This record gives sequence, structure tokens and C-alpha cells, in this order.
Amino acid sequence: MAKVAVVGVGAIGSVIAALLQQGGHRVVLCARRPQAGLVVESPAGDVAVQAEVVTDAAAAPAVDWVLVATKAYDVAGAAQWLPGLCAQGAAVAVLQNGVEHRERFAPYLPVERILPVMVDCPVERQSATRVRQRGVMQLRVPQGALGNAFTQLFAGSPADAAEVPDFTSVVWRKLCFNSAGVLSALLLQPAGVVRGEALGEVALGIIEECAAVARAEGAVLEDDIAQVILQAQRAAPADGVNSMLADRRAGRPMELDARNGVIVRLGRKHSIATPRNAMAIALMEALTAPAS
Ligand SMILES: NC(=O)c1ccc[n+]([C@@H]2O[C@H](COP(=O)([O-])OP(=O)(O)OC[C@H]3O[C@@H](n4cnc5c(N)ncnc54)[C@H](OP(=O)(O)O)[C@@H]3O)[C@@H](O)[C@H]2O)c1
Repeated sequence: MAKVAVVGVGAIGSVIAALLQQGGHRVVLCARRPQAGLVVESPAGDVAVQAEVVTDAAAAPAVDWVLVATKAYDVAGAAQWLPGLCAQGAAVAVLQNGVEHRERFAPYLPVERILPVMVDCPVERQSATRVRQRGVMQLRVPQGALGNAFTQLFAGSPADAAEVPDFTSVVWRKLCFNSAGVLSALLLQPAGVVRGEALGEVALGIIEECAAVARAEGAVLEDDIAQVILQAQRAAPADGVNSMLADRRAGRPMELDARNGVIVRLGRKHSIATPRNAMAIALMEALTAPAS
């Protein structure tokens, strides 16, 4: 049994806490606000999370593992927890979207103690203390000692946690899927927006740009990945709300840089043109700029 801290008790962090508890671990919730009565509506029934809750980073206890599940734009705040939680050398698993997990946390701890995690699970916050998990929590990590120790944390829980030999391809495939979500957030409309012919074409272009950069970064993706993803997105429930749309609706920042900015930045590095992603970013920045 390990003592595991979860930093960021939102949709993903709450489910992770419930799974760790089911795996028999001692869970410490590191949150910005009290978390009494946290309940996860899992596919197998409600799980009431019983955990120590800490709301002050200065009071964070040393733990065996730290699992960060904040949004990518909240990394600086999440990092404030690390000196206390990692006082005895704990590793930090980064459960976030995008492909730059290590880069985001490298300013705060030695890179060999950072474990990037591809997290895939449909889950939404219902209220401050209730989340709904609509599918299995899938966690993928690079093969190695750290990856192996991480997957062991979920033994005995219903999570699907596994090491993979080619993490680069796994994480870029997920980014390909997420990249076109920016259209939904731009238009303030749920997932069904890509069912239209014209917007479907735009989505295809955004994903194709992502796939081209992914391949330049070493990912192995099938030739027709963009069509496969668009088809899957068109077949998904039309009223699905991705997290970027949810963030925009709630007036929060968005993971625009982690999901689209990175495609433009790394595209530039490889001399790959990414005009559709660049335009989506420019439009979103203009639409959400504070009125002057
Ligand atoms: N939701 C999904 O279905 C899903 C699926 C796959 C991947 N992901 C990815 O997983 C990551 C987490 O997403 P999410 O949906 O769980 O986000 P979320 O519901 O917005 O939760 C993020 C949590 O982090 C907390 N937080 C922010 N700054 C903090 C700080 N300094 N200290 C402690 N807590 C802090 C927030 O606190 P407040 O409650 O106070 O705002 C919030 O509870 C993202 O990268 C996302 O893209 C999400």
C-alpha cells in the first residue's frame, strides 16, 4: 500500500482518487478548496472517496507518489505542491492531455522523476463534489521502472493501466483526436459540429497537420488517421462537450497551447506548415481577448 497524492481534484483527479482507494492505497487530495463528500459515479456504481484533504501547499505531507491531474494551463499552481509532497523523492505522474508532459514539469523537478501519462476516460464534473465517469479509465505510460511502478498502483482497481513500448505514437494519436476539438470551442457548439461537410473538411485539415507533425516527432500513425478520427467523431454523440468547450463556457482558460499551439510550434521546428491550427488559435485568441 502506498501513500499517493492527487493534485487537482477535478474530473480526472476524482476518478483517479476513487481508483487508488479501490486499489487499497492511502490517498491525499491536494485541492484549492475543501473536498468533503466527494463521490464518483462510476460505471459500476457510486464510490465515496475517503481521503485526507489538504488545501494549503505549505502543509502538504511527503508521499510515495504524486499524480497531477490539473489542466495543462495550471502547471505553475500544481508545482507549488511538489516541494512538500516530493520531500522524500516521490515520482510525479502527469495525467494531462497534449504531448509535453515532461517539458511542463521539467522546471520543477529532475526529469527522470517525471512520468508522462496518456489519460483517456469520458468523465465530467457534475458539481463541486460529484463527478460522472462514463467509461473505463485508460492510462498508458512509457515502458520502464517508473511506468511499471505506476501501473502497479492500479492493480486491484477497475482501471486499465498499462506500459506501452511506443508512448510517442500513443500520445500523438490522442492529440490528433483532440486537435479538432478546437472547432467546437470556437463555435460554442457540441461535438456534432464536425458532421457538416464544410466543417468536417476543416477538422480533417487540422488533424492532418497534427499527424504530419506527429510523424516528424517520431510517431507511427496510419496514413488515413485523419479520416478514421473524423469518422469516429461524427459517429460520437452529437451533444458531447469537450473540455475546451466546457472551459470556454465556464469562462476558464483553455488548453489551447497544449492541444493546438504545440502543433504550430513543433510544426515550425520541422518546417511543416500548420495554417489551420494557427488560424484556429488566432481566432480563439481574438474571440476571448479581454475587452480593452
Ligand atoms: N475530463 C475528461 O474527460 C478528460 C479526458 C482525458 C484527458 N483529460 C485531461 O486531463 C487533465 C485534467 O482534466 P480534468 O477534466 O480533470 O480538468 P478539471 O475537471 O478542470 O480539473 C482540474 C482540477 O485542477 C484543480 N486545480 C487547478 N489548479 C490547482 C492547484 N494549484 N492546486 C490544486 N488543484 C488545482 C482545479 O481546481 P478547481 O476545482 O478549484 O478549479 C480542478 O479541480 C487535462 O489535461 C485534460 O485535458 C480530461
